Amino acid sequence: MKSSDLVLKYLEESRGFFVSGEDLALKIGISRTAVWKAVKNLESRGYKIEAVTNKGYSLSPNSDVLSPEIIKNLSGSPNVILKKSTESTNTDAKLLAVSGAEHGTAVIANEQIKGKGRLGRSFYSSEGGIYLSIVLRLKTDFSSAVLVTTASAVAVCKAVEKFSDLTPQIKWVNDIFVGGKKVCGISCEAVSDFESGVVDFVIVGIGVNFKTKSFPPELEEIAGSLFFENEAVTRNELAGEIIKNVLEITESLGDKKFIDEYRRRSFLIGEDIIFRENNVWSDALCLGIDDDGGLIVSVNGVKRTLVSGEVSVRRK
Ligand code: BTN
Repeated sequence: MKSSDLVLKYLEESRGFFVSGEDLALKIGISRTAVWKAVKNLESRGYKIEAVTNKGYSLSPNSDVLSPEIIKNLSGSPNVILKKSTESTNTDAKLLAVSGAEHGTAVIANEQIKGKGRLGRSFYSSEGGIYLSIVLRLKTDFSSAVLVTTASAVAVCKAVEKFSDLTPQIKWVNDIFVGGKKVCGISCEAVSDFESGVVDFVIVGIGVNFKTKSFPPELEEIAGSLFFENEAVTRNELAGEIIKNVLEITESLGDKKFIDEYRRRSFLIGEDIIFRENNVWSDALCLGIDDDGGLIVSVNGVKRTLVSGEVSVRRK
């Protein structure tokens, strides 16, 4: 590890508190001048570090620079790739997967230029949010792979709860809501072997509005953000926890243990909804979620199950 990364590691461990230059120098085995240079290097990379004579250095509680090393440590991912700016982390992850990236590899970006949402929509991805995609090699067939979206929604909710008193809710199939506003979207893309039906890999893409100060006018009503600027949680921590949870929960997709929690968090159940299928909107009553993550609805008294693919749903 480079000296600056080691200094960062120790400052991160004592975030918000001072660590003396002497202590850092001793721990890392470099001179105090080298520590000072490392701090300057970190500042030039965007870290907010306070330096006070006779006290040392302190990493500010709201210093929030994405760090692949930290995310890797927190998540257990074998490889985390950081992009300052990219078109779409889903596209990046897919290219990596095609060239053999291992299970759990993650790509995270500071912003996306062409963030992709479900159903061909775009996903607002301004600088400072969390935009991440994970390569999953699950050795499963297509019908189980579909559950990755459902399971990942639960994984994100749990990660948010670790750092807050919030109770995130899920709007079928992949939107996370807090306080009536969408704070996170999830989209999955699978590549499978046409003949065997075995899924080669799944890319799960997760976009979180994190400490977002404003949204474009067309999103203001519907989009919300997680955490305020002065809250101590960082993108590294939340991203690390999300990746860790996704890797854990998708380990045993087949047993569908997460489905009950998905149901508990689903706020459409019992509501009048409208859904769009083949470009036609229909009224329905939402009855529940089945064990495969399908939305059970009643349309004019006739019960049927919607599967996520091309269906879009809204509360009436
Ligand atoms: C949706 O709400 O329709 C799904 C949004 C998914 C957005 C994430 S951000 C990271 C990854 N890269 C993308 O281009 N899309 C996903």
